[in-house]
Amino acid sequence: MQYENLLVENRDGIVVLTINRPKALNALNRGTLADLRQFFGKDALTIEGLKGVIITGAGDKSFVAGADISEFNGLDAQAGLDMSQNGHDIFFLIEKFTKPVIAAVNGFALGGGCELAMSCHLRIAVEKARFGQPEVNLGIIPGYGGTQRLIQYIGKTKALELLMTGDMIGVEEAYRLGLLNHVVPAGEEVNKAMEILTKIAAKAPIAIQKVIECVNTYFSAEGFRREVIEFANTVKTEDFKEGAAAFLEKRAPKFQGK
Ligand code: COA
Repeated sequence: MQYENLLVENRDGIVVLTINRPKALNALNRGTLADLRQFFGKDALTIEGLKGVIITGAGDKSFVAGADISEFNGLDAQAGLDMSQNGHDIFFLIEKFTKPVIAAVNGFALGGGCELAMSCHLRIAVEKARFGQPEVNLGIIPGYGGTQRLIQYIGKTKALELLMTGDMIGVEEAYRLGLLNHVVPAGEEVNKAMEILTKIAAKAPIAIQKVIECVNTYFSAEGFRREVIEFANTVKTEDFKEGAAAFLEKRAPKFQGK
């Protein structure tokens, strides 16, 4: 198992995956997404006695601060479509994984980071964690399932507000809205996830797998497909070029609706 940005530690059948790019706040670049695909699509299937997986971020500031904006330069509509479809495929591997997957959110979970946490079956966050889908600040929409999964967890009222304002919320609100299972002090997030996975591991594995399958089947695929198409449609706008450039130049964007 060779990974570019993923640390993999097997603790008695519970695997702790750490996204390891702390200097970029663990933003999901192509290499990290390839690592996640390799783990959930291939390597994890060969781990003897696997009980469950925990995903967390390296460092004490961020879980994952989104897709890597420095890779956005020169994206066209086709590349946007491919990028979004790739993210959807990987996050569905996680959501459909036959063993429980828990996000241990140790800091910022923004954009693709919030989407990654939402593709996991359960979410535990530390008190200072922050959640949001800030893509509209960049002139695009979420491209890794955020428009669909946010509604599933918190409902249309607050999902629309967060998706349109790009606002971040703290754990108190995230917990109240139903996005989080537990809030714990910093440093306790992986332990809490281990405790829950140990409890689930004592149940019948086939029953757990079928619970995951049935819950996933409750939601339709059409909205996810629409998100991939509309993500690509926003990628081809002038506003997206401006939004991504403004972030990298550390200034406010000037959008023109083009
Ligand atoms: N992609 C690439 N690099 C990112 C990143 C991302 N999504 N998020 C943060 N970084 C980088 C910053 O560019 C910065 O790099 P530098 O030190 O080389 O300048 C470094 O991580 C630290 O981030 P910084 O913005 O200086 O930290 P902060 O504490 O002031 O702000 C955030 C933290 C999370 C609020 C801010 O980084 C942010 O808004 N990130 C983007 C979130 C986003 O829009 N995600 C959705 C992308 S589709």
